[in-house]
Amino acid sequence: MPKTIAFQLNGRPASVEVDATALLLDVLRGDLRLMGARFGCGAGQCGACAVLVDGASVAACATEMGNLAGKSVVTVEGLGTPDEPHPLQAAFLELQAGQCGYCLSGILIGAAALLRANPDPSRAEIAKALDWHLCRCGVHNRVMDAVALAAKRIRAGAPA
Ligand code: FES
Ligand code: FES
Repeated sequence: MPKTIAFQLNGRPASVEVDATALLLDVLRGDLRLMGARFGCGAGQCGACAVLVDGASVAACATEMGNLAGKSVVTVEGLGTPDEPHPLQAAFLELQAGQCGYCLSGILIGAAALLRANPDPSRAEIAKALDWHLCRCGVHNRVMDAVALAAKRIRAGAPA
């Protein structure tokens, strides 16, 4: 039976009337028309649907709305804007680290979660944190370069 679930979405109050078992990815894309998080595997195994929940990267395709009341959800749309991109978005653009655009939202979210927890990650730590995110185009080195560049800029004071 649908019920009202209130949470924070990209820094603003949000509320939806859905079953507690409704999946966050379906609500984001279907009800709220936020298309940044992608449907890839639908089984929590590819990272394309990643969003931040209370600062941690989670698979929106495997997260039930009933677990989100009162929590903070941030999608790639909430990371930055075209005028004021998040340092990760700016670095990915600068280093041309994104190729397909399909996996990219999830990778940016995974990287954002990593930098919140570890502002100065080693290359191995970046690789480990993003290991979950599947990318078929072999752009992994540039992705890691971009994450390291963004981390350096955030440590130097860039707002994130
Ligand atoms: S679509 Fe959610 S992890 Fe693949
Ligand atoms: S950049 Fe998306 S699959 Fe490689």
